Amino acid sequence: MDANRWTRRDLLGNATFAGAAAAAATWLGAVREARAEDPPSAASALSSGALVALAYEALPGFLSKEQVGLHHAKHYGGAVKALADIEGRLYTGDGVTDKAARRELGRAQSEKANSVLLHELYFRGMAASSEPPAEDVRTALAKRFGSLDRWRADLEACALVANGWAMLAVHPVNGRLYHVVSDAHDVGPLWLARPIVILDMYEHAYYVDYKNDKGAYVKAWFDHVDWQEVDRRWRATK
Ligand SMILES: [Fe+2]
Repeated sequence: MDANRWTRRDLLGNATFAGAAAAAATWLGAVREARAEDPPSAASALSSGALVALAYEALPGFLSKEQVGLHHAKHYGGAVKALADIEGRLYTGDGVTDKAARRELGRAQSEKANSVLLHELYFRGMAASSEPPAEDVRTALAKRFGSLDRWRADLEACALVANGWAMLAVHPVNGRLYHVVSDAHDVGPLWLARPIVILDMYEHAYYVDYKNDKGAYVKAWFDHVDWQEVDRRWRATK
């Protein structure tokens, strides 16, 4: 089964949370089953344990090779390694029974797993140059936010106040678009919502090239959104 073919109807089943959760579990099962024939955009270190390679080692005019390389190897790569270590402690041998240690590992598991997934979406979501959004995406943004300009202004505002992530996500329960502000990998998720546009606002994402000028980083990022990838993600939610 192609994991990208899951639909809102598949995911919902009915309008109950239980129905949505069951359908989400089915979709996640499909993700695991689809590894051998996945398109590159569907690969994840959560499945393979290996870092997903960069499509662009640098984005000229936006991010340098040093910036992208450090971010990918040290921060994304660090999360992949840390998650493997945590899973090794939690799910092999006798596990962890000490209450404080189990609590901390549970929290760290969410932090590192989210970091892995969100970084993969972030790196895959940028291109050397940006095409205009597809008509369906443009229409959906205008319907939800009033216009493309207002969508951009709101996401920019979210990014400037976020210490972790700013994203546009589609919620499977009602199909609506939401802007989500997160101050850390494991803080502020909108459960089940699927990010389709995502911006890393940790300082490590921009400090080599922009120092503390996060506004310049955000403005430049809008010129490198991979709208073809956004369109694929958007259509995968239908
Ligand atoms: Fe990051």
